[in-house]
Amino acid sequence: MSNRAQFVTKMGVIAATVGSAVGLGNIWRFPYEAGLHGGGAFLIVYLLCVFLLGIPVMIAEFVIGRSTHSNALTALKKLKPDSHISAVSYVGIVASLMILSFYSVVAGWIMEYLYQALMGGLSGHTAEEYATLFSSFTVNGWRTVMWTLLFLLINFMVLRRGVEKGIERLSNVLMPVLFVILVVFCINSLMMPRAAEGLNFLFNPDFTALTPKVVLGALGQAFFSLSLGLTCLLTYASYFSDRTPLVRSATVVALLDTLVAILSGIIIFPAVFSFGMEPAAGPKLVFQILPEIFQQLPGGYLWSVAFFLLLFFASLTSTISMSEISITYFVEAHKMSRNRATGLNTAIAAAFGTLCALSFGVLSDLKVAGLTLFELFDYVSSNVLLPLGGVMLSVFVGWIVDKKVVEEQLTDYGARRITLLRPIRFCIRYVAPVSISLIFLYGLGVL
Ligand code: PFF
Repeated sequence: MSNRAQFVTKMGVIAATVGSAVGLGNIWRFPYEAGLHGGGAFLIVYLLCVFLLGIPVMIAEFVIGRSTHSNALTALKKLKPDSHISAVSYVGIVASLMILSFYSVVAGWIMEYLYQALMGGLSGHTAEEYATLFSSFTVNGWRTVMWTLLFLLINFMVLRRGVEKGIERLSNVLMPVLFVILVVFCINSLMMPRAAEGLNFLFNPDFTALTPKVVLGALGQAFFSLSLGLTCLLTYASYFSDRTPLVRSATVVALLDTLVAILSGIIIFPAVFSFGMEPAAGPKLVFQILPEIFQQLPGGYLWSVAFFLLLFFASLTSTISMSEISITYFVEAHKMSRNRATGLNTAIAAAFGTLCALSFGVLSDLKVAGLTLFELFDYVSSNVLLPLGGVMLSVFVGWIVDKKVVEEQLTDYGARRITLLRPIRFCIRYVAPVSISLIFLYGLGVL
């Protein structure tokens, strides 16, 4: 496959994969999930899920992607022509379109907040006014729909320029800057009057808060945050070169992604307690707290603009990566032109994204199993489809793919000795599929 692009530099591989992983999942979804599910207990289960289940599944995706240098469907067929495993690529396509739909709504909120920040609308208000700012904005469906569609349009335009150029350039420059800003915000939050309570909430586990639902929520969050289980990282790994250190890259990506989530928690929870707010506020948590934080920072105007701008780009590198899943599928399985495939991906997300955006306003009474459309898309993709995909991918690599191929990939074609080779294979074969299945069934109340 010499005509496929490859990430030439090591930095490019890590930066692009981190660009996919780091996004709203870390900065928006992690604090709200942790806040809803009891803080410390959630964090511990989340960390276990990342390191014992997430990294092995990520390595499994990398093995499939790099050994075949193809998109998911072709890759799975190449490795095992007559197996039913290619079903996992359909799980990935559906999950990626569902995530793209509701993710674009939140990215739209980020754009509104960026706009507000630029216009000076994020300063000089009271806490209640900030809370109202968010609710009156999200209830006003058409404004959120407009931002959702605008975001999708930008995503569409970037995608039409092809994989490596857009993605690599954007994430290479922006991620380190975002990281520095987060560290500054962390220091600021740690100096707040009730910081200790916030840290206690996040780091001191109260295990009585642990229920099967919390555990499933942590698993879903781990997979969502690492972009796992939907063949996104498989597709990225198909561009890796033979020299890319597979195991080390997976570990570094997981570590960086987790670090960003924890930084975000350290920014949000001390502020939540210091401003006397509720940690279990749900999706609006971060949007209510951040303006308050900016208000306190010297030079708050610039910080807020820089932050929302970078978060916008972090969201974009994530949506680019998830869009790639259905686009490559439309192109390679249905022989569509790349432009049409990109248009179709955008059109589907625009239709469902509009419904998700309106579920905060005119469609708020439309509920399925007690969830609004936005919540349903979020729940089904993260807590059902991604774990399902994760089980299928780890079983495939652990049990079906030729052992030699797996070993060749784990050792980067024999170039490296991997000391943890056996434990890694053990996790891929047993720990990941069994634990994910159990958490999944317990969480859904089946067991
Ligand atoms: N990992 C991204 C985030 O944390 O924001 C979200 C995501 C990207 C999920 C790509 C799935 C995906 F395929």
